[in-house]
Amino acid sequence: MKIVTVLGARPQFVKAAAVSRAVAAHNAVQPDSSTMLQEIIVHTGQHFDENMSDIFFREMDIPRPHYHLAINSVGHGAMTGRMLEKIEEILLEGKPDFVLVYGDTNSTLAGALAAKKLHIRVVHVEAGLRSFNMRMPEEVNRILTDRISDILCCPTQQAVENLHREGFAGFSCTVAKTGDVMQDAAIFYSSFSAERSSIVERLGVQGRDFVLCTIHRAENTDDLDRCAAIVAALNEISRDIPIVFPLHPRTRKVLHANGQVLAFDPIEPVGYFDMIELLKHCKLVMTDSGGLQKEAYFFRKPCITLRDETEWSELVASGVNVLAGADKKLILDCFLTSVRARTVFADGLYGNGDASEQIIRTLFNA
Ligand code: UD1
Repeated sequence: MKIVTVLGARPQFVKAAAVSRAVAAHNAVQPDSSTMLQEIIVHTGQHFDENMSDIFFREMDIPRPHYHLAINSVGHGAMTGRMLEKIEEILLEGKPDFVLVYGDTNSTLAGALAAKKLHIRVVHVEAGLRSFNMRMPEEVNRILTDRISDILCCPTQQAVENLHREGFAGFSCTVAKTGDVMQDAAIFYSSFSAERSSIVERLGVQGRDFVLCTIHRAENTDDLDRCAAIVAALNEISRDIPIVFPLHPRTRKVLHANGQVLAFDPIEPVGYFDMIELLKHCKLVMTDSGGLQKEAYFFRKPCITLRDETEWSELVASGVNVLAGADKKLILDCFLTSVRARTVFADGLYGNGDASEQIIRTLFNA
């Protein structure tokens, strides 16, 4: 069976690392080639810096992409359109049985659309998530991708229910609850991340409380009022506790262009092992990232989400994540409450850590 995996943005490298490991493990125990999986990786190039892309392939041992399209730094239309054209050429030549896409980025939508128009079955990993905010490019990407997917691998029960509410039971597709592949990655790589990363010592935060913060969502970076309110809140918090802030290139550009000044030094984006070590050692997480909200939970850290809504509603319902939007006062209040509270973490919100194996089983049963 031949699979083309389309990826391009940082969180997809983490997800693909887990599934590619499971593909290799599956092949290792097959008696003959008839049940083996051949995976061909297409990197759209959406993320391209050493510390936004290459480091993940190296550290996580992701197979080298067979194709690298180098499409980035253009608007949504041009980016998605150029990807669509190139991916279609690759699919016409390779004739895979499945195209596998992850999450909600422009690379996800381009991969799914190219495959569907060629009648190649689309597998969407991280299907069924909804923020119910149609102004987010990610929400548009995930709704459209879900609708044209043949196999929808849902990380949570909530995701399955979202699809049922949208009538997916009546569509000719398979909806499977597989668990979350990011949890598979967190479990595997955290068992040796301490040997590979010295970031906590390097930053001088070993044994100290600190906040781990990331910001990159367009809804925060491209809205100057929201961006200014978040920066003001972080600057105030940084007087009480160190903030480790790996700065996404999008955010760096926006802060620079608008003269927004951080009262503390951000750091460059970090690789996966560094991120895991920061998660293990921090006091709490503040973020607008989707993936980092879950990773905070995997490492039992409370999270303040700098958005008005989240797709990961089970985190909020279970009391480990709080939505603070981009309201300075609310962010400061949430910070004070979170550092004082003792957070209790429910188990098992994202499956058993075998989501990647379940996805492969789902492919064979489809
Ligand atoms: C994208 C995804 C988002 C995901 C995020 C993870 C979409 C619509 N958004 O947002 O869902 O959570 O990735 O990071 O697909 N840039 C660099 N170097 C890089 C990568 C990006 O300088 O290695 C710059 C780009 O040139 C651009 C900006 O950062 O100016 C934003 O990049 P883009 O890929 O458009 O969106 P992200 O904000 O990263």
